[in-house]
This record gives sequence, C-alpha cells and structure tokens, in this order.
Amino acid sequence: MLTEQEKDIIKSTVPVLEEYGTGITKTFYKNMFEAHPELLNMFNQTNQKVGDQPEALAKTVLAAARHIDNLEAILPAVIGIGHKHRALNVKPEHYPIVGKYLLAAIQHVLGLESSDKILSAWEKYYGVIAQVFIDVEKDMYKEADW
Ligand code: HEM
Repeated sequence: MLTEQEKDIIKSTVPVLEEYGTGITKTFYKNMFEAHPELLNMFNQTNQKVGDQPEALAKTVLAAARHIDNLEAILPAVIGIGHKHRALNVKPEHYPIVGKYLLAAIQHVLGLESSDKILSAWEKYYGVIAQVFIDVEKDMYKEADW
C-alpha cells in the first residue's frame, strides 16, 4: 500500500506527466523495444503503428492515478483491456518489463535522480496497477482454462 505522502506525490505529478505524455511514450517504447525486440511482434500483431495507439498504455497508467483513492473505478476499463491483452498473450512476467521502461521514461522526462522519492512513489503505484491487471487477466486465463 502507498503512504498518504506517496499518494500525494502521485496526484501532484499527474498533470506534469500528462503534459509530457508524448515524450514519455516515445522514450518508453523506444527503449523497451531496443532492449526487448521480441515484444515488437506482440505489438505489431495488432496492425497498429507503434507510437500511435500504444500511447494508450502510458495514458491509462496516468488516468488510473486520478483514481488512486478509489481504484475499483478502473476495473471496468481493466477488464476491457484485459481481454485485449489475453488475446495477445500478455503474461504476468511482461509487467515488470513495461514497468521498468515506463519508470525510466518518467525519470528521463522529468530529469529526476534515481533516488528521487517521486520515482519510488511511481514505482510502487505502477506495481499496484500492474497487480490489478495481472489478477484480472489471471481469472480470464483460468476461465478459458489456459
Ligand atoms: C493494449 C494498457 C501492460 C501489451 C493496451 C491498451 C491499453 C493498455 C489501454 C489499449 C486497449 C485497446 O485498444 O482496447 C496497459 C496498462 C498496462 C499494460 C495500463 C500496465 C499496467 C501491458 C504489458 C504488455 C502489454 C505488460 C506486454 C508487454 C499490450 C499490447 C496491446 C495493449 C500488445 C495492443 C496494442 C495495440 O492495440 O496496438 N494496453 N497495458 N500491455 N497492451 Fe497493454
């Protein structure tokens, strides 16, 4: 769980991060695909140009930050996205990869030291959101008996 101070950090940085949204997304995908070219296939299967629709990921993480005090509010959206993830075979082990590059992009765009508490608050919060997705998707895989 996040402390009240960490929640405040998340809430206060969302507007700034939204302003840098495109920068974050570009840095995130570029670095992630450079380190994990195997993921390009997964994203390309969707006939979407990378850098275009995938912006949805970072935007959703930011949008979820607005519901930090009431995370159940994002569940309907998570279920919809989860179906798409399931169809593309997104697995729990992919989440830390996304988290690592998303965090690095936030650090880069905001020019933060790696010890900055803004970063550790976001790291924790990404972990919470990722777990919501992983749990929802786990149930979907179970239902489908995969
Ligand atoms: C699609 C969010 C984690 C791979 C999406 C979409 C959203 C989203 C909003 C668009 C859904 C739609 O078009 O209906 C998130 C969030 C994540 C996350 C918030 C983390 C908390 C991941 C992970 C992977 C992944 C770990 C795998 C590495 C994909 C792919 C698509 C997708 C391949 C389809 C892209 C496309 O349509 O171009 N995700 N995602 N996502 N996500 Fe995720």
